[in-house]
Amino acid sequence: MAQVIFDGVTKRYGDVVAVDDLSLSIVDGELLVLLGPSGCGKTTALRIVAGLEELSAGTISIGDAVVNDIDPKDRDVAMVFQSYALYPHLTVARNIDFPLRQRGIERDERARMVNEVATMLGLDPYLERKPAQLSGGQRQRVALARAIVRSPQVFLMDEPLSNLDAALRVQTRADIVSLQDRLGTTTLYVTHDQVEAMTMGDRIAVLNHGVLQQVAPPQELYALPANVFVAGFLGSPGMNLVPGRLDRSAGGATVAVSGGTVEVHTRVHLPADPDAAVTVGVRPEGLFVDPHGAVGATVTIVEMLGAEAHVICTLADGTRLVVRQESTVPRPAIGEAIKIRIDPDAVTLFDTAGGKRLEERE
Ligand SMILES: Nc1ncnc2c1ncn2[C@@H]1O[C@H](COP(=O)(O)OP(=O)(O)O)[C@@H](O)[C@H]1O
Ligand SMILES: [Mg+2]
Repeated sequence: MAQVIFDGVTKRYGDVVAVDDLSLSIVDGELLVLLGPSGCGKTTALRIVAGLEELSAGTISIGDAVVNDIDPKDRDVAMVFQSYALYPHLTVARNIDFPLRQRGIERDERARMVNEVATMLGLDPYLERKPAQLSGGQRQRVALARAIVRSPQVFLMDEPLSNLDAALRVQTRADIVSLQDRLGTTTLYVTHDQVEAMTMGDRIAVLNHGVLQQVAPPQELYALPANVFVAGFLGSPGMNLVPGRLDRSAGGATVAVSGGTVEVHTRVHLPADPDAAVTVGVRPEGLFVDPHGAVGATVTIVEMLGAEAHVICTLADGTRLVVRQESTVPRPAIGEAIKIRIDPDAVTLFDTAGGKRLEERE
């Protein structure tokens, strides 16, 4: 087992900076999720750890050793891909056995190891089948088994659940979490799916355009996003972000937004400029349709999701807001002019210019 450390890692492809000065430590035994939109550099970062990409700058360490110049095969990492990358002509047993054979482990020992891992992943009934005779979920289990049987220092997983249908994805992500917990193997898990990240990660590292935005445990990332990108990317739907202008004329602090005002707590470190441009961030559960609300909006659409409803509305300037309601709460009509009340405790403020969250005072 081992820690993995990116130190100032940059990877350029011509003019494209795929990974930009990334410094990030994955603690020994941790499951760290690297989360970000398509094209943000996740796969590149993973391939750098595996030794499949040369660095443009920086160092990458596994355990206590810098591995920049170490061959992929000598790095003791095992990768699991979105495409299962199984050998189609080999049985499940032989697929799992493959890395053990390559290491020259003797036959009985190999058979014992294959059986142990197959049992762990519920693959015993399928050992003599070929990959084409398996479902997508079973194939991904074989790919996992082949990674686990090597007992590497580090697992690298690149969107391994993307090809599975929704129900199987939920099941398999729980299985991976409990396996990783049991094995205690340091794991770097890449996904663009924030629900997967929230449910699986000990910590989540959010990447955008190759630049690390924030690293934190899931709940902290949700409650205290470092900037507007993280705020909008996490949550389904993400945090509402409303541009406004600070108003300190009445002694306290409010933010003037299109169609109304938002109360904010003065315990936040407010900008020196008394009418600075700020962005009000508020999760859909912090908004309420309420005739006494201080912000006017027009309902565009109401989405029913069973236990809850999303009231989607727009402010006068076109800013979109989502209000999350229990399905038992009466819903407004499409096109209706409503008032929205915003819970001041649910408000996060961002500096509009830099996009950073304004921290609270100690
Ligand atoms: N071999 C390559 N040659 C040129 N550009 C690449 C190559 N691999 C990735 N890129 C570019 O680097 C960026 C990051 O890609 P990638 O790491 O695959 O992102 P992600 O896995 O987050 O979707 C993208 O802009 C992509 O087009
Ligand atoms: Mg990718």
